[in-house]
Amino acid sequence: MQDQVLLDQILTCHRNEPGGLLPVLRDLQDGLGFVPEESYSAIAEALNISVAEVHGVVSFYHDFRTEPAGACVIQVCQAESCQACGSRELTAHAERRLGVALGETRADGAVTLEPVYCLGNCACSPAIAIDQQSHALVDKARFDALTTQWAQESDT
Ligand code: FES
Repeated sequence: MQDQVLLDQILTCHRNEPGGLLPVLRDLQDGLGFVPEESYSAIAEALNISVAEVHGVVSFYHDFRTEPAGACVIQVCQAESCQACGSRELTAHAERRLGVALGETRADGAVTLEPVYCLGNCACSPAIAIDQQSHALVDKARFDALTTQWAQESDT
């Protein structure tokens, strides 16, 4: 476990809280950037639930990741409105342009390309987010412009 002290603090805070699993997982991801699989047994023991239950919740919610993210996280919305407005084609374009498959982190650690299920911009689909900042009406050209700007900013 990468940060046992942090995990112990989080478990102490939420150990006796009804429905404490989600707060534990959120705090852990906020602190470490991800929820390490090696933390599941300690979480299960502290909350008196099964390891399978911890695993089930982590895998159910798309927001939880079990590996560290890249330096930049680019999310492409995969929900209905964005799909209807071309997010599948945009996703394929993003994979080619960034050199990483959806749901993966590029080998150099520079970028993670993630699916997201609605950014609240449905009226202006398709939508993406770059490091939590959302952008609407993103076609391939706009995606290229946004990621070029991101690449330039990350070089400085
Ligand atoms: S469906 Fe994509 S922002 Fe809502």
